[in-house]
Amino acid sequence: LTGYITLDSGYKNTGATQSSITFLDGEKGVLRYRGYSIEDLAEKATFLEVAYLLIYGELPTTEQYAHFENEIRTHTLVNEDMRKIFEGFPVNAHPMGVISSLVSAMSAFYPDSYDSKQPDATNLHIVRLLAKLPTIATWSFKKSQGHPVNYPNNALDYCSNFLHMMFALPVDKYEVDPAVSKALNKLLILHADHEQNCSTSTVRLVGSSQANLYTSISAGIGALWGPLHGGANQEVIEMLEDIKADGGDTQKYIDMAKDKNSGFRLFGFGHRVYKNFDPRAKIIKKAADDVLGKLGVNDPVLDIAKRLEKAALEDEYFIKRKLYPNVDFYSGIIYRALGIPTNMFTVMFAIGRLPGWIAQWQEMRENKEPIGRPRQIYTGPVQRDFVAINDRK
Ligand code: SDX
Repeated sequence: LTGYITLDSGYKNTGATQSSITFLDGEKGVLRYRGYSIEDLAEKATFLEVAYLLIYGELPTTEQYAHFENEIRTHTLVNEDMRKIFEGFPVNAHPMGVISSLVSAMSAFYPDSYDSKQPDATNLHIVRLLAKLPTIATWSFKKSQGHPVNYPNNALDYCSNFLHMMFALPVDKYEVDPAVSKALNKLLILHADHEQNCSTSTVRLVGSSQANLYTSISAGIGALWGPLHGGANQEVIEMLEDIKADGGDTQKYIDMAKDKNSGFRLFGFGHRVYKNFDPRAKIIKKAADDVLGKLGVNDPVLDIAKRLEKAALEDEYFIKRKLYPNVDFYSGIIYRALGIPTNMFTVMFAIGRLPGWIAQWQEMRENKEPIGRPRQIYTGPVQRDFVAINDRK
């Protein structure tokens, strides 16, 4: 503490804003969007209903929902010139880098998003983002397979359209399995918002300078990519695969995670706020059993995940630090059962989190919050005089 500045690295004890969007209680493992419990919404709502709830504050009436869904349907196509930007990416480009770039590029295609002289058509930008991110996201997967990209099929609902764009091929008839679409709907709802997490705080901070919505969301995608945040869902599956390849020795990895010098963390475990079970992890764990059972998928890493969870929850190191499975621990197992490749898992998180980012950015703007500009504790050298280069040692 020097003068009036309190150092709080990682903002562990700093409230950055006031928000009426999402409530979570880390001790009790409670998560609610605009007052509705995540358990209720995951079971009874569609992802677009939840997107509407987060962004506009209320669950939509039938008419409002029909209008919202129709608005989104009319914007699922992406400008063909975006394809030219996309074609420039190498085939093995990570999809998170691709969608972060293309979402930022959207500001070039919709200049009214940053031209202060033009009317602020935020609502249209919101619809464009919700409508086009799934389309853009599937392009990377199709390119990585050497397959042609699919155009959206507006006869399908949001989740089925995503699956269609991901998996339809010109040579076969592709029917979306309703069980798969339902599972995806639930996963997207569970990821839709989570108060002031790293990527949401990034979206707010970038937006607080009056930067446009596309650029702010693109910055959020970048923050989510990190392995300590949304990138953890990809790390979890890679970790479980390593454990499987290593003979399924979960205790070895628990011991490594406890050894500070190992540099290894148990991905999918621990949370800045939840010091009890992450309520989303509970729902996803049950959904993993249901979905794999319904699809007849037997994935050995699910058993490894359950054994790892059990061993960790009985281990003093994890108990003392209140480390529980988080949203990323089981989600990859379901994505994989749905046929979604590992490097697309964090993209799925981004598609889910998009309405939350939008809602939080909009709230920050509506509340006319000041530009974010934290202070620091300076620890560098005191004042020094310049030394000519020939006189430097
Ligand atoms: C998400 O914020 C959000 O809401 C995020 C999210 C969302 O919806 O937006 O919920 C999504 O990002 C979930 C988290 C996904 N990340 C991972 O699974 C990566 C593994 N987890 C950790 O790196 C860690 O738990 C964090 C990043 C999630 C939280 O980090 P914190 O709050 O800064 O906690 P910390 O690193 O200070 O850990 C506290 C202690 C430390 O030990 P000590 O120094 O006290 O001895 O717990 C240990 C850590 O070493 N620890 C772990 C661990 N996580 C924390 N030890 C082993 N394995 C782990 N996974």
